[in-house]
Amino acid sequence: MPRKVNYGLDYDDDYDDDNDYDDYDIDYDVEDNGNLHKPNQEATRSGIWRCSICTYDNDQSMTACDICGVLRNPLPSSGISNGNDLKTAPFKFDVPSPDDIVTNGLRSSKMGPKASANVKKNNMSAPMSTRSSNSSSLTMPKGRNVAGNENNQLKDGERNLRSSAKSPDEMAGTSSSYHEGGVEYTLPMDEIKPRSLAYSLDSASINDRGGYSNSYGTGKAASQGQYKPEKWMLHEAEDGLLSQLNLAIVGHVDSGKSTLSGRLLHLLGQISQKDMHKHEKEAKLQGKGSFAYAWALDESPEERERGITMTVAVAYFDTKRYRVVVLDSPGHKDFVPNMISGATQADAALLVIDASNGSFEAGMDGSKGQTKEHAQLIRSFGVDQLIVAVNKMDVVQYSKDRFDLIKQQLGTFLRSSGFRDSSVLWIPLSAMENQNLVTAPSDIRLLSWYKGPYLLDAIDSLQPPTRNVSKPLVMPICDVIKSPSMGQVSACGKLEAGALRSGVKVLVMPSGDVGTVRSLERDTRPCAIARAGDNVAVVLQGIDTSHVISGGVLCHPDFPITIAKHLELKVLVLDGASPILIGSQLEFHIHHAKEVARVEKMVSLFDPKTGKVMKKAPRCLLAKQSAVIEVVLQGPVCAEEFSSCKALGRVSLRALGRTLAVGIVTRVIEKEPIAFFKSKYFVFFSK
Ligand code: GTP
Ligand code: MG
Repeated sequence: MPRKVNYGLDYDDDYDDDNDYDDYDIDYDVEDNGNLHKPNQEATRSGIWRCSICTYDNDQSMTACDICGVLRNPLPSSGISNGNDLKTAPFKFDVPSPDDIVTNGLRSSKMGPKASANVKKNNMSAPMSTRSSNSSSLTMPKGRNVAGNENNQLKDGERNLRSSAKSPDEMAGTSSSYHEGGVEYTLPMDEIKPRSLAYSLDSASINDRGGYSNSYGTGKAASQGQYKPEKWMLHEAEDGLLSQLNLAIVGHVDSGKSTLSGRLLHLLGQISQKDMHKHEKEAKLQGKGSFAYAWALDESPEERERGITMTVAVAYFDTKRYRVVVLDSPGHKDFVPNMISGATQADAALLVIDASNGSFEAGMDGSKGQTKEHAQLIRSFGVDQLIVAVNKMDVVQYSKDRFDLIKQQLGTFLRSSGFRDSSVLWIPLSAMENQNLVTAPSDIRLLSWYKGPYLLDAIDSLQPPTRNVSKPLVMPICDVIKSPSMGQVSACGKLEAGALRSGVKVLVMPSGDVGTVRSLERDTRPCAIARAGDNVAVVLQGIDTSHVISGGVLCHPDFPITIAKHLELKVLVLDGASPILIGSQLEFHIHHAKEVARVEKMVSLFDPKTGKVMKKAPRCLLAKQSAVIEVVLQGPVCAEEFSSCKALGRVSLRALGRTLAVGIVTRVIEKEPIAFFKSKYFVFFSK
């Protein structure tokens, strides 16, 4: 019973066209003043409208792009929406939608039959306990910690850099200034240091003021300082319960992620012999015998027919130390948004590499491969513990030379992406031949040179994530399950901070409604208390069920999180990405929400070597450049400055099926009042 999450995208085969990307630049004409003519928001031909983001031609009846889920313009909120628009939800990206689930009972029409008892796909299939896939569960990536915990997890290099600047508090007061155009700009010291991707992002946690003016405080820092957790919230792990570890399985398409996950689940007794026979038989019948293990997780007919994973599957297994939540991500480039939603919750990642000749190289290809993109995304989400599973070693006769070459080439890239060598474990294995998974290898060709841990041991050696229990509740909602007959709604997701138990009041954002927790379920079992790091389904009562949406956030009633449309970001443009210009329209991803964003302003550009501001108000951002920019979103999202809540402050920017940049929220420029937002929002999205 794998559960899957997707953004509701029914990707057509014809979207695979790699040339899509080449069109990107054509849409923009640079004007003399450096601004751009805005691309057509929507080109309409008879019977169709063209998505402003991915250029897919959608049927007129569609209110959001069938490919990327972006809302059709003009937005319903403009007040000129038609009747169809009224049915559109802003966070429509998780599919099946809550309404699909209502219509079809508690399971989405897109979810296949249950595969096995311990594998769950996607949207919660039961009001409680299962977690959504894209989202997934588990313990916290280092990035989720807030200041106090964060220093404990600094990379050595960062620690050195930071210690030179003293404590975070001291850092906040440390600055450097420069003059340009007769104006003095003051920069935090943090802004003038060389940095890697990870450093660029993490360092903002010390001083997140990337911009120079109009600072708009959320006013939360002080109130959070006053927060006092209750005693029950602070208890450590309950007796007999292993701590959860969210493990995102990522990597290039066909590298063997699902096969490896299925094999592990089977070896660890999570898939019964009977179910395994069933998968084998069905796979053989369709001429895809080699996919038997993958089918334990790829359960939808589309996935099985195409032989690829499309949505994140969630499954569980236990090690000696952890209750591991497996998040089997899709590797195909069209489904990176789904991978993002799952991976944002990861505490650690398993990067699966296909060792076969040509396949490793294809994965590393800057424009078509997903190995680098997945690794960079994972790192940008704060994950710094990585296991590289060099799979399909059987195909290369368990060659040490091949393993070493992969380790050397990929290792260089990982290092440049901010992974510390000491936090990366390299495991040669074969999922197909069951070599080096849960026991030491038996094949002499591998045994003769490999003396390291097997995969299960490597997972067990990961550092337990730090849980942020002493902060007010924050739980981004990845799935919503409604049970109209019972008048209840379940919000599913991972607690990033705080704790919950039955009877407590929660503020549901962005609606601003307050509901009461009726019950909780963790991993299909009822639980009394959920604390930071836990993936749970929260059954709410006393609330309009339509006001609980995927992409929203549950928080403490006295500590509302911010809703905003205008944000300042510090971003790093990824290697090989197309230029980002003023006026560029991009997909903006933040926790489980996705919105259309327009680049409003480019504040400053940093020198990639020195990290110093080398240009103010650049016109264009190129690959590998780091900059502070302002974006305006079409619709408001729940967001926080990265320094106050990492989980709500990490973003990624995508266009035409590729991730262009990753970054953090450095400033909320304009905060949407809840009441204002609520009135607009629910006019458009409630039925
Ligand atoms: P996506 O989810 O679509 O990105 O693919 P994936 O990474 O999950 O790959 P999947 O598990 O679907 O496997 C793809 C193919 O690789 C299947 O035919 C598997 O049988 C094959 N495969 C997986 N692991 C191994 C292995 O260790 N050795 C060999 N020879 N083939 C493998
Ligand atoms: Mg797969």
